Amino acid sequence: MTSLIVNGRAVEIDVDPDTPLLWAIREQIGLTGTKYGCGIGQCGACTVHIDGVAVRSCSVLAADVAGKAITTIEGLAENAAQHRLQRAWIDHDVPQCGYCQSGMLMAAAALLAEKPHPSDQDIDEAISNICRCGTFQQAREAIHAAAKA
Ligand code: FES
Ligand code: FES
Repeated sequence: MTSLIVNGRAVEIDVDPDTPLLWAIREQIGLTGTKYGCGIGQCGACTVHIDGVAVRSCSVLAADVAGKAITTIEGLAENAAQHRLQRAWIDHDVPQCGYCQSGMLMAAAALLAEKPHPSDQDIDEAISNICRCGTFQQAREAIHAAAKA
């Protein structure tokens, strides 16, 4: 058994040692907001926070993050109904198909935690997520709005 702390809750999972965290989150824990895109650390759809840092969960083993604080999109808002980024995402109509958006939001949240007022360049460097719908400009505007909120 592996003990994970997901969104502040301790969970015990029974997975093979080579199971990526993404599969543990989706299939063992049942939190399906974190998406599978490429499986090779490229697209960012699977981004979660581990001890506050944005990490591509397809590229880390569940066993290697035992005892660390894992936050998924379901845990982003904590005590509020929505995180300020989620409100800004709605205000700026960021999502199109929506598939990449939870990963995009998690990357954006980690950026704001590190840099409360990021520049366009900071955003472009930090948000390397792939969005096939091309929502990058709207996401950038929403991040700036959330930074001021
Ligand atoms: S599914 Fe993890 S980076 Fe694409
Ligand atoms: S909103 Fe469709 S892939 Fe990003």
